[in-house]
Amino acid sequence: MFETFEELEKSIINCQKCKLCQNRTNIVFGVGNKNADIMFIGEGPGADEDRLGEPFVGKAGKLMNMALEAIGLKREELYIANIVKCRPPGNRNPEADEANTCLNYLRNQVILVKPKIIVLLGSVALQNILGKEYKITASRGNWINQKGIWYMPTWHPAALLRDETKKIDFINDLKQVTSKMQEFEEKEY
Ligand code: URA
Repeated sequence: MFETFEELEKSIINCQKCKLCQNRTNIVFGVGNKNADIMFIGEGPGADEDRLGEPFVGKAGKLMNMALEAIGLKREELYIANIVKCRPPGNRNPEADEANTCLNYLRNQVILVKPKIIVLLGSVALQNILGKEYKITASRGNWINQKGIWYMPTWHPAALLRDETKKIDFINDLKQVTSKMQEFEEKEY
């Protein structure tokens, strides 16, 4: 466990703890506000993210940004990370050993950011964070509170590219996030 982002990031730079290190161009550590109330967790870097070292900068990310803008959430206000920090070959799902190894880094990031809300983007994020018993189709759009953090599972943005009808769900799930933030803010006054 590292006490600062700088130490954590430094510890990851040459990570060779799993086989994903063999093909990576860049480690995609995470981006955004390190004191964010809302954290987004995706699956793993794709080709664009691997090239640029930043999460959600490809097609799916652009779609996500449009949805964020539509509901008045600013990407810079959030903290965005992935289950694995190196690109799985051919964009396959991360394997259990890869995800389990990398989750230690993500847990450390969550401890440092201290988000009130975590948006879980897709099944890989949902199952690795909350457990294999959760299914994205049944869970999306429903709040789950665990250890003081509110989790909102929703579709992975790439799923919206494959199926347009999921866009409305995605927007509605994100609207629940902004409503919950308003609730928190009202309680603080
Ligand atoms: N898909 C993800 O899950 N994460 C990214 O960073 C990009 C695409």
